[in-house]
Amino acid sequence: MNLLHRTFTYELPTEIAFGMNVVNELPQWIAKLKGTRVFVISDPGVEQAGILAKVLDPLAKADITVQTFTDVDREPDVKTITTATEVAKSFGADIVIGVGGGSAQDAAKAVAVMVNNEGKITDYAGLDKLPNPGVPIICIPTTSGTGSEVTIWTVISEKDSNRKFGIGGKFLAPTLALCDPMLTVSLPGPMTAATGIDALTHALESFVNKATQPISEALSRESMRLIAKSLRKAVAQGDNLESRYDMLLASTIAAMAFNPTRLGLAHALCMPLGGKFKVPHGIANAILLPQVMEFNLVGNLEKFKEIAEIFGENTEGLTLREAAELSVKAIKKLNQDVGIPAGFAEYGVTEEDLDYIANEGMESGNVLVNPRKPTLEDLKEIVRKSI
Ligand SMILES: [Fe+2]
Repeated sequence: MNLLHRTFTYELPTEIAFGMNVVNELPQWIAKLKGTRVFVISDPGVEQAGILAKVLDPLAKADITVQTFTDVDREPDVKTITTATEVAKSFGADIVIGVGGGSAQDAAKAVAVMVNNEGKITDYAGLDKLPNPGVPIICIPTTSGTGSEVTIWTVISEKDSNRKFGIGGKFLAPTLALCDPMLTVSLPGPMTAATGIDALTHALESFVNKATQPISEALSRESMRLIAKSLRKAVAQGDNLESRYDMLLASTIAAMAFNPTRLGLAHALCMPLGGKFKVPHGIANAILLPQVMEFNLVGNLEKFKEIAEIFGENTEGLTLREAAELSVKAIKKLNQDVGIPAGFAEYGVTEEDLDYIANEGMESGNVLVNPRKPTLEDLKEIVRKSI
């Protein structure tokens, strides 16, 4: 494409505070946002690991009125959001804080808008369907993967129908992302691996897709560089602070990359795999990614060559096609090194489920921006190779 004809926009409604121990500055941020009644949403795992206390302690010291809600399930259900919204309303919340991985943060974003909107959150599935803005949202990530702290999206499950919904728009963008790598230090190795590959999938799918643009590309490159440098070490040595810093930064900027571009086939297919088969989001992406890359390769050989080089492959003397293929090899090696399961069989996925997964995956908006247009049969083949 002639670059002179390439126009794009980039907007980030979220302010970011990033660094070791920035969580201690939370009271000042709440004051800046004029919060007086603070509703904190988290999940039982984050609470039991003692991480929630690290967020609540500075609030207690500053005498801030807080109500906590820690009953958030993995892949939060629409009923959980309705219940939490009722509690937040009766408390009179004027600011909502989400502390956790994608689930707690997505729940917080949903509750913050539902305080000022009627019905249930899934009534607003899609982009920009919410009529009213919510109360200010602060997201505090405790994993390095989802990037929910800077995205305009929340993903909510409807367990009765085994479906997951994306609700997006400016009102769902956190007001502040408070990113403290110290909160990720106790994250176990397998979770570090799964969430880290989720971040990689964000950076990579945005980088190669049809909707990418120069600012997203720059963010994706830097995110992939950080992941190539630090994911193995963060998994192998959880207390290595430099790799934790790198991984949280990689995750946040990968989400900044995909906010305006959307993603690709891995994220399209991991919705039904998460909804019906309960495959954790990061694991689903990690297992699918090499097969999705193999399929997409011909749609953007130059970009896949660049990915191979970012991940340390030597492409000298190779044809463009050969060099691009090395990117798939590099990601397979990374998956192996960080202990990603080999396939979906252990989650009960069989050949008989291919139709369902492919049909549901095809519904995703991420298919439209994928660098190669897939048929239903292509999607089935990608999942078949991933079982
Ligand atoms: Fe993701």
